[in-house]
Amino acid sequence: MEIRDNKPVAIAIDGPSGAGKSTIARILASELGCLYVDTGALYRTVGYAALCRGIDVKSVTEVEPMLREITVELRHQNGVQRVWLNGEDVSDRIRTPEVSMAASAVSALPPVRQFLFHLQQDTARRQSVIMDGRDIGTVVLPFADVKIFLTASAEDRAQRRYLELQEKGVDTSYDEVLRDMKERDHNDATRAAAPLKAADDAILVDTSGNTLEQSVALLKEIILNALGV
Ligand code: DC
Repeated sequence: MEIRDNKPVAIAIDGPSGAGKSTIARILASELGCLYVDTGALYRTVGYAALCRGIDVKSVTEVEPMLREITVELRHQNGVQRVWLNGEDVSDRIRTPEVSMAASAVSALPPVRQFLFHLQQDTARRQSVIMDGRDIGTVVLPFADVKIFLTASAEDRAQRRYLELQEKGVDTSYDEVLRDMKERDHNDATRAAAPLKAADDAILVDTSGNTLEQSVALLKEIILNALGV
C-alpha cells in the first residue's frame, strides 16, 4: 500500500548499528512508496572526509574547520540513495570498518551534528520519508508520524554485520566485528551530543532471533496501525 497524502509522512527508525534498520527501512520504503533516507551515510561521509585529510576524527578543533571546506549531498536514483562529497559519489567508499569507526567518532562532535541537521530535516519536508539513524525521533524529526526504536542483542547484530561484510569481501572476523560493535554502541550511547536513546513516544521493537521477513512484516503492521491506514 502506498502512502499518499497532502502532507509528507515522516517515519523515524532509530537504534544501534546492525539491528537491521537500513535493510528493513529500505524494503518498507519501497512497499509504502516513501523515500528511504539512511542518515548514517552522512556521518560516514564526514568521517571519510576526515580520514582522507589525515585529520584526528575525535578532535573538534581539527574537524570543525574541515566542515567549511566540504559539501555533502544526498541524491536518490530510482529510490536508491547515493551520497556525494565535494561533487563526487563516495557511497561505496564509506562502507569499510575503518570508516564506521571514524563515523562514530565524528558523530559525537556537536558541529558535525549541526552541519548535517538541516540536510536531514529539509529532505523530510519535501517528501514522505522513512529515515533511519540514531536521533531521528528525538532530534531531527521530533514531529515524525511514527517513531520506532529497533534493537537486537549485540551478538545477533554482530553476526548480521559480519555476514554482510563477508559478502562484500571485507577481511574481518566475527570477534573483531563484535568488539567494534560494542565499542560503537558505547560511543553512540554515552556521547553528550544527541546520544542514542529511544524517544519517549517511540515504539520499541526487538528483532533478536527474527528473520528479515518477520521483522519487515512486524514493522509494516506497526507503521500502518500507527498511521491509521
Ligand atoms: O548507521 P551507521 O552504522 O551507518 O552509522 C554510522 C555512525 O554514524 C554510527 O556510529 C552513529 C552515527 N550516526 C549518528 O550519530 N546519528 C545518526 N542519525 C546516524 C548515524
